[in-house]
Amino acid sequence: MYRSRIISTGSYLPERVLTNFDLEKMVETSDEWIRERTGIRERRIAAPEEAASDLALSASKAALRRAGLRAKELDLIILATVSGDMPLPSTACMLQKKLKAKGIPAFDINAACSGFIYALSVADAYIRSGTYSRILVVGTEVLSRFTDWQDRTTCVLLGDGAGAVILERTRQKRGILDIKIHADGNYWELLHVPAGGSRLQTSEETVRERQHFIKMKGNETFKIAVRTLERLVVDTLKDNNIRAEELALLIPHQANHRIIAATANRLGIGLDRVMLNLDRYGNTSAASIPIALDEAVGTGRIKDGDYILLEAFGGGLTWGSALIKW
Ligand code: ACO
Repeated sequence: MYRSRIISTGSYLPERVLTNFDLEKMVETSDEWIRERTGIRERRIAAPEEAASDLALSASKAALRRAGLRAKELDLIILATVSGDMPLPSTACMLQKKLKAKGIPAFDINAACSGFIYALSVADAYIRSGTYSRILVVGTEVLSRFTDWQDRTTCVLLGDGAGAVILERTRQKRGILDIKIHADGNYWELLHVPAGGSRLQTSEETVRERQHFIKMKGNETFKIAVRTLERLVVDTLKDNNIRAEELALLIPHQANHRIIAATANRLGIGLDRVMLNLDRYGNTSAASIPIALDEAVGTGRIKDGDYILLEAFGGGLTWGSALIKW
């Protein structure tokens, strides 16, 4: 029986830093409000010439370098994003070209902030079935291009970045033990971009009304996220007969410090066993988990044989978890 195992990670964060104090000059907000309500201090903003595939390229190259592999040695590219280079073609194909990985299949996945977990679940299924044996899974976002910089309820939350992992086939009893993905489309309106799709074509009017930017009902999303994630993490551990005490690290989607603290609290684990970097990067949607994972690996917070739990919640609504034995 095959399992899939993460053999390498990489990430890329744009250079430009936008602090809460910078935002104070742009909208009616304060560093204190943002820090207390979200835990965010600053976020990264892509340079004008950087698109989602450029960020993805840097993260992917870092993961390939760490694995000692060339792009040609990959079997498949799966890329999660809601802020791709263009509506057509896929950002995964842009990345395939930039990696010079000619001939390798490549496609995008849109599951908002849960995108990386969704992408990982597809890659894991391909590997378990024996279809492919080495897959690049990327989460990349340039949310700053879809952010309404006049809307204080969303612009203080989001950031740009990319993270990548290489997943490889193994016969060992380690790697991805379990992945759960869920969705409830009844709540699509809580988090959406109204214009620019086939529902509402871009026009002068939609641009004037700022309908090509992300709209979020933050408070309702928050309540559902807390409730859903608390249940999800408990169920994931229970289904796999793992006790919370055995968990070395929880790597949550980095949306809000209070959501993360509630999830950790429900598991009964301290924040010392939670990977947190949203203070520096904000919510980078599909990129947040692979960025956090890469930082955890890079800072030696994950050791061979450790149990790691990834979890995410986002627009759709979508949510999911992945239990890994490193
Ligand atoms: N600065 C100052 N005041 C603000 C700001 C701001 N940036 N934004 C909102 N406020 C005000 C509101 O207007 C409101 O004022 P009022 O009481 O006078 O009406 C007050 O602060 C409280 O607003 P709430 O929205 O109730 O604040 P809440 O505590 O819920 O925090 C937040 C808002 C941070 C957005 C939170 O709800 C949240 O994190 N939600 C979940 C986000 C999430 O997880 N999204 C899913 C993933 S994202 C993705 O998929 C792309």
